[in-house]
Amino acid sequence: MTPNPDVVVIGAGAAGLMCALTAGYAGRRVLVLDHANKPGKKILMSGGGRCNFTNLDTQPRNFFSANPHFCISALNRYRPEHFLELVERHGIEPVEKAPGQLFCADSSRPILDMLLTECDWAGVEIRLKTSVEKLERLGEGMRLTTTRGCIDTGAVVIASGGLSIPTLGATGFGYDIARQFGLAVTETRAALVPFTLTSQWKERAAALAGVSCDVDVRCRSGRYREPMLFTHRGLSGPAMLQISSHWQPGDDLLIDLLPKLDAYQSLVAARDATPRRRLSTWLGEHLPKRLAQAMIDWYGSDGMLAEQSNASLMAWGERLNRWRLKPAGTEGWRTAEVTMGGVDTAAVSSKTFEVKALPQLRFIGEVLDVTGELGGYNFQWAWASGVACGLAL
Ligand code: FDA
Repeated sequence: MTPNPDVVVIGAGAAGLMCALTAGYAGRRVLVLDHANKPGKKILMSGGGRCNFTNLDTQPRNFFSANPHFCISALNRYRPEHFLELVERHGIEPVEKAPGQLFCADSSRPILDMLLTECDWAGVEIRLKTSVEKLERLGEGMRLTTTRGCIDTGAVVIASGGLSIPTLGATGFGYDIARQFGLAVTETRAALVPFTLTSQWKERAAALAGVSCDVDVRCRSGRYREPMLFTHRGLSGPAMLQISSHWQPGDDLLIDLLPKLDAYQSLVAARDATPRRRLSTWLGEHLPKRLAQAMIDWYGSDGMLAEQSNASLMAWGERLNRWRLKPAGTEGWRTAEVTMGGVDTAAVSSKTFEVKALPQLRFIGEVLDVTGELGGYNFQWAWASGVACGLAL
């Protein structure tokens, strides 16, 4: 590597590696810097260790941003099929765990190895354990002062990701750089994150830790039909992670524990048809046994269905179809999968990802105010923004 690369990418994560290899193949001399001791740590732990690397049905509506149009161009140009083609070329067999959600069969490692191999083939240099102490404009280019010396370059791409999971190397570096160069940063908060509960509900959830059931959950404009999981701290599972992106402190969640059933009508029908059946038996037929028993304990009204008044069945209908629960909070950055908010896209080109007023500075990936839903969308954004930027360098 010459001392003066054409491009320095800060962040050897999903977006940074994709951008680097794309620019490398386009003939640019690319240097990737990362302060961590290994590249792509989030890729390795993603998708429960099996990396949900894309979603075949990626649409702009799967993303949150103050400017919902910003993501359209890059997502249209680099589609999930393009990434799938790359994956298959490297002999990685995708597994469709849920409709459209593509995972690795055993481990995320092949995805990272693929990106590193491509970077190698494209002549990209990756320098780890290197922190950037200062970034300044140098005429038409940029000057970086790093812990391993000074680098002058034509363009700098900030691909330093969001704030989630600091132990994996997440920092607010990208936001600081944005502010330094006069860009706004929209409010950031932890998203795709489990909920914590207050004392009584926390104890109840803890007693049910490991129990999972399909729910329909709503909060604000969000609504998801996915599994919910009780944990020692509160509630998790895809339904809760998804709705956490809509939730604001103080909001209630509206949870339908029996989304396939009008519980009140079904209970009335069951009381008419089988009056001697116990309420707990009916609940146990429709919910996981441990949850059914716990609900009887919480609300204390077991007995034969014939003994249940309409008012009692109506109350059960409410609990089952419209359970209102106010989380204490979320588990925060420690376990969040993504950061909601980030570098305001208003000052960034959606075609090249350059800062409009300073084209030698670019932002890609999660550091931007573009956040996907759960299901492989965040990686697809990392790939698509990385490729769009890399092609324009
Ligand atoms: P990313 O965080 O990947 O990379 C940023 C890089 O910048 C890191 O290597 C970091 O060390 C480096 N860096 C940070 N600060 C720096 C500094 N000051 N100086 C130098 N380097 C710095 N998404 C999905 O689509 N499917 C999935 O299955 C999952 N699963 C998942 C699980 C878990 C536990 C988490 C935490 C996240 C996911 N995600 C996911 C989200 C996905 O991992 C995330 O959106 C992308 O990795 C974002 O890619 P970026 O390249 O933007 O940032």
